[in-house]
Amino acid sequence: MPLDYEDLVTRATTVFQPRTPITTRDLFAGRWNELMAVVDAVNQIGLHAVIYGERGVGKTSLANVVAPTVYAMDDPSPTAPLNPKGRVIVKTVATTSDTFASVWVKLFKDITLIDDRPVAGFFPGQKGRVSLLEAYGLDSNLSVDDIRRVISNIPNSVFIVDEFDRLQPASMKEFTDLIKTLSDFSVNSTVVLVGVSDTIANLVADHASIVRAISQVFLRRMLPIELRKILTNAEEKLGIHFTDDAARLIVHVSQGLPHYTHLIGLHAVRVAADAYTAPTISRKDVFVALDRATTQAEQSTRNRHSRAIHSSHKDALYRQILLACAVAAAQEQDPLGYFTPSAVIEPLSAILGRLVEIATFNSHLSAFSQLERGNVLERDGQPRAYRFRFQDPMVVPFTFMDAVANGIVDEDHLARLLND
Ligand SMILES: Nc1ncnc2c1ncn2[C@@H]1O[C@H](COP(=O)(O)OP(=O)(O)OP(=O)(O)O)[C@@H](O)[C@H]1O
Ligand SMILES: [Mg+2]
Repeated sequence: MPLDYEDLVTRATTVFQPRTPITTRDLFAGRWNELMAVVDAVNQIGLHAVIYGERGVGKTSLANVVAPTVYAMDDPSPTAPLNPKGRVIVKTVATTSDTFASVWVKLFKDITLIDDRPVAGFFPGQKGRVSLLEAYGLDSNLSVDDIRRVISNIPNSVFIVDEFDRLQPASMKEFTDLIKTLSDFSVNSTVVLVGVSDTIANLVADHASIVRAISQVFLRRMLPIELRKILTNAEEKLGIHFTDDAARLIVHVSQGLPHYTHLIGLHAVRVAADAYTAPTISRKDVFVALDRATTQAEQSTRNRHSRAIHSSHKDALYRQILLACAVAAAQEQDPLGYFTPSAVIEPLSAILGRLVEIATFNSHLSAFSQLERGNVLERDGQPRAYRFRFQDPMVVPFTFMDAVANGIVDEDHLARLLND
């Protein structure tokens, strides 16, 4: 039967979702150890979890699959009911105007007592239904002790707070106090905090006081094989096939950030469908996809790039050096996206066709991390041991496309640089 290209393009958007967190286990790739760390915290009394990492690394997606994973592990038999232990697992998203108390009001609103039994969800009109706050005679001014008392009566429950970094420091501190209290009283419930941060100290106030009570789940950037799994899932669901060099190119350009794997994967399927070459997706399709993705990139990305490389000298090397940095960033597989100056030597030598040393480009790296060149790079560490990363990861694929478009490298050369 001939492939229905229109149908393929429609179905592709259900598998590749660059801007929507994953909600089902079958589309969730990798992250097994991190998921198990959260599940262990759920199953151990006195232990709670903090999920943290860079923006866009997959924190919400991980938090979303906690509930189905916990249910599946409560009773792994194929005939088990959806939620065998009847657990209450609720999640909310904090906003900048939330307080400690208002976050808990939101969480508790998602729990209903039906004939005195707590159930996750809101059931208007259900007989025997009472709201949790009503049942406990509490107003919205909830204290740490109020919360402890309420959730002591909801055994095995899990409370997930996403975007925790948006709260004011005073509210964050109350969460630390709560976790300490729950742990001291051996309450059989788990609090899971989820937020953007490179370190636990920046997210959890006074974290030293609760180190033994929290499982620190750092989400590093995804590994190449985990990103490859996103493509494999798509291949299975859509009946398509990425050639090896096409898949490698997508994975490298994504720099460990799943958003880009989804974005470029989706564009590549569209390109191959438009050209009637699907179900095979080739490296050429991925290059066109990259071009489309960068053309649609935000103006801010574009501006950052042009500000970084601008020069009145024809033979200034900013463009080449930024390209070499992008190659280094795409290859290093650092948990936080950093690369070292020494990682720039090889790609820059290959781009310029002559051997270079760090001294050749050191001042350019400093310039890239200053305001005049738009802070395109962010610098970290001590003098002599600096590390760099792109502030806006979208500048990386943009740099690749710009280099091809401006004849700095051709497509084959770029693919060779990336695939080492
Ligand atoms: N394990 C995964 N497998 C497949 N796709 C993933 C996975 N994790 C994240 N994604 C995809 O990556 C993108 C970003 O994920 P998500 O929104 O979960 O990240 P985040 O860390 O919560 O982002 P933010 O910091 O903006 O809140 C989404 O498109 C999501 O579908
Ligand atoms: Mg999120």
